[in-house]
Amino acid sequence: MLPRGKHNILGRAPAPAPLVSARDVSKYFVLHETLLARYLTGAKDRTVRAVDGVSLDVYPGETLSLVGESGCGKSTLGRTIIGLYEPTSGQVMFDGRPISGPEAMPRASLRRQAQIIFQNPYSSLNPRHTVRQILGVALAARGVPARERETETIALLRRVGLSAEHIDRYPHQFSGGQRQRIGVARALAMHPRFVVADEPLSSLDVSVQAQIINLLQELQAELGLAYLFITHDLRVVYHISHRVAVMYLGQVVEVAPTDELFENPLHPYTQALLSAIPSIERHRRRQRIILDGTVPTPIDPPRGCRFHPRCPRRTDRCEVEAPEFRQVTGTPETEAKAEARATARARAASEPGPAGSRTGARAEAGSGAQVGTAAGTRTEAEAEVEMEMQMQMQMQMEMEIARRKGAGPGARTGASAGTGADSTAEVASRTDAGAMPQGHFVRCHLAFA
Ligand SMILES: Nc1ncnc2c1ncn2[C@@H]1O[C@H](COP(=O)(O)OP(=O)(O)OP(=O)(O)O)[C@@H](O)[C@H]1O
Ligand code: SF4
Ligand SMILES: [Mg+2]
Repeated sequence: MLPRGKHNILGRAPAPAPLVSARDVSKYFVLHETLLARYLTGAKDRTVRAVDGVSLDVYPGETLSLVGESGCGKSTLGRTIIGLYEPTSGQVMFDGRPISGPEAMPRASLRRQAQIIFQNPYSSLNPRHTVRQILGVALAARGVPARERETETIALLRRVGLSAEHIDRYPHQFSGGQRQRIGVARALAMHPRFVVADEPLSSLDVSVQAQIINLLQELQAELGLAYLFITHDLRVVYHISHRVAVMYLGQVVEVAPTDELFENPLHPYTQALLSAIPSIERHRRRQRIILDGTVPTPIDPPRGCRFHPRCPRRTDRCEVEAPEFRQVTGTPETEAKAEARATARARAASEPGPAGSRTGARAEAGSGAQVGTAAGTRTEAEAEVEMEMQMQMQMQMEMEIARRKGAGPGARTGASAGTGADSTAEVASRTDAGAMPQGHFVRCHLAFA
């Protein structure tokens, strides 16, 4: 596929500055061999290049979905960009400030502003804590005085569709969907600006999935949250995302606004992923592309283009030369759609509407809410939040490792795209995130041939 002609972007409102910026970020894990294995077989430590040289921006108020096969590095990238993992190299900036290194922003400040919702609501809540305690820790870390926490907790529960009577219950006394709502409430208790939602739907049944998606979208519209939404369900991606990033074997291979990506996928891997969706209204059916071969391991990724052993369009060049990640232009059709959306937005903004709902939580998240809390308690609560997140991450990781061992490599590959057939039936379409960058980026020689 060839690059499109230059398009006119004059007159469009400038894109806001990114809230989160990853630049050339890598995260490697070293797998240590036991002494016995070293002695008996001469085995050496191995390095898993889970994330390898990723650059990505997330803008205020947008939903950027991250898709790709199982094991391609989505969770690792999500955890790295909110500081749960230290990057092996590269830099992540939050609101213009580095999150690691000597100039790093204070950890507590990052934790208040960047939160994560984990995939499994069963393992991500402390079974020995009631909802009051679970949410109380986060509220304390935000600086809410003790006397106000019960009221805030009840307000949060109501916000996520639960009620005051749930406050003294333990996680095992809830259904899966309710537990995921508590996970959402816990993330929101900090009044974050950015939330990584790491497959928040995959352990829920279809009707509950739609409820959780709608809840996340309402919260985004009210509070202006930005999401990095990690999922395997491409239909959900289509309905809720402003932009989509596609990952393959530790690298982002394509990023584009949602309409652009679905209508004009440039990377052969994206084309194969999208060809697997049974149906999305408004999109022409594509011929199903079945990829050959198994997913290579991130311990020893192929040289040249990482996708070349499976790529139906590979050339000799692909085997030796790694393609750069570069911007191509959008199509005239998607440019026209973006213009139409901008016009509709401008019209909506000029019409009088209900004020107030957008201001509430965000306004009080400022310094006022933090007044009057003993610094010691606050620091302890902040440390507890950090510890708890690390603990949840550990539990999630153990479950993931068990799942991968049980299912074998590539268990969710290929067929994983487009699962959850009916989950979007009642899902609201994506909210308006303001002026979003229309850039289409791709990592493939063909796009620049
Ligand atoms: N703590 C860890 N130690 C060693 N390897 C890890 C660790 N965490 C992840 N990996 C490896 O890094 C690679 C990327 O894993 P990651 O969990 O980020 O993938 P994913 O895209 O989220 O997959 P899934 O869709 O199955 O959740 C995998 O090969 C995984 O086995
Ligand atoms: S560079 Fe493009 S055409 Fe070549 S193997 Fe990679 S994805 Fe396929
Ligand atoms: Mg994952």
